[in-house]
Amino acid sequence: MAKRIITESSRTLMEYRLLPGYTSVDCSPDSISLRTPLVYSEDNKKKYYLNVPLVSAAMQSVSGAQMGIELAKLGGAAFIFCSQSIESQAEMVKKIKNHKAGFVKPQTMQADMKVKEMFEIRKKSGYSTFPVVDKNDLFVGLISKWDYDVSLHSESLIKGRMIKKENIEVGTNITDLVEANQILLESHKSVLPILDNDGKLLSMVFRKDINDQLDFPLEIHDEKKRLITVAAINTHDFKERVKLLAKEEVDVLAIDSSDGHTQYQADTIRWISDKYTQIPVIGGNIITAEGFRFLVEAGASAIKVGMGGGSICITQEQKGTGRGLATTIIEVVEERDDHFKETGKYIPVIADGGVTSTKDVTIALALGADYVMMGRYFARMEESPTEKIVVNNRVMKPYWGEGSTRAQNWKSKRYNQGKFVEGVEGMVEYAGHLRDNMEETLAKIRSSMGTCGAMNISEFHKLAELEVLSALSIKEGKPHDIYLSTENRDNQDYHSSE
Ligand code: IMP
Repeated sequence: MAKRIITESSRTLMEYRLLPGYTSVDCSPDSISLRTPLVYSEDNKKKYYLNVPLVSAAMQSVSGAQMGIELAKLGGAAFIFCSQSIESQAEMVKKIKNHKAGFVKPQTMQADMKVKEMFEIRKKSGYSTFPVVDKNDLFVGLISKWDYDVSLHSESLIKGRMIKKENIEVGTNITDLVEANQILLESHKSVLPILDNDGKLLSMVFRKDINDQLDFPLEIHDEKKRLITVAAINTHDFKERVKLLAKEEVDVLAIDSSDGHTQYQADTIRWISDKYTQIPVIGGNIITAEGFRFLVEAGASAIKVGMGGGSICITQEQKGTGRGLATTIIEVVEERDDHFKETGKYIPVIADGGVTSTKDVTIALALGADYVMMGRYFARMEESPTEKIVVNNRVMKPYWGEGSTRAQNWKSKRYNQGKFVEGVEGMVEYAGHLRDNMEETLAKIRSSMGTCGAMNISEFHKLAELEVLSALSIKEGKPHDIYLSTENRDNQDYHSSE
């Protein structure tokens, strides 16, 4: 006889709907907070909170440095994938930690270069202004497209056409964008080179970027105003990997595993907690209350839940293991709340895999998840690490599972020793920039929370009332019994348009 046989069906997020609650006048979408704990932290440190409840999956086709930067600026976090060499992952973490919004590291030109050589570089890069340096790498001037005419000056040296340093306003060791902006305004200039004490160029600030960069009120950062960075690790090479990631001052680690209820995972968490006490570790994935207890007792600071539901996942098909994400959240969150009552430690729960639309995010949060991880949603964005391709006049981006043949190839098929695959490879429709998409997504989440009278996620957990839908109710929830206009017909599959 099996240890446990549950005869009730496992439920997905798609099968639930929220019932509205009382909405007061104070509960307008603009006043609703989406702040949520990233990990448990004893002293409630600011850096361990997200300002929006969304994180991108630790996958090759989703979470690289660009996603890490953009998502942290918007208040979420990318889990930088670990199915790559330790060095390249550490380089991504470094890039995110060193990112200074608005401070651009531009290509430099040598003062002794000819104008025609620079013109070739300009054509490829698309930039019109370049800083100029001498042989010792010291900043000596700026050259922009207004300073030369290539038909007249192609043989001239850059140093003969550039604006010399003496005539340029520069900033020394400035790291604050507001200060840089002030200097630009006062000097009536459009670009400010930032130098170190020796006169070497550190970065440039362009006036045209400033307003855009100052406009990230939800950005999550550490005490030194650097973006928060989360990196995935595995239970194989973690000792070497964590060493390098810690050197780059990664803020949080997350073990990337389809089954976290294992001794490997507990050993990994214990080893990190012992050697790197300052770095919280997220454990997972688990789908039972028992799995939650096991990882929390091993020292995990947040728990990722979900198995078998991912859009690229074939684990259920291949191994017969898995559970509907809604059922998983309900069971694990109950255990999380019991654990909180017993110990006073609130361990965040992350819903992961198969969250196909904003309404799924909302349902996951309503059921008690603290934030949601998505792969497919983020793979469609400009900021994911893949190249766009055009298929049948539609712009697409490739998306593949970490257990697919494509991802396993990074290191001699270590996932399942390469004996079978647990993921597939496909394409998703390109959706544009993350910022524009998130704006709509967050507006919908806030609107649903408002309908339930919840001003923040913690209130949402307490106030939400949910109901299981019948198959007919799901059908009724879509447009029916009308002839749809062409535009709506094309968009009938609302999941794929989101
Ligand atoms: P999505 O948001 O539905 O696309 O699911 C993304 C999630 O699927 C990830 O966060 C992982 O938990 C999971 N996942 C990633 N790659 C694979 C795979 O190859 N097989 C099974 N699950 C995967």
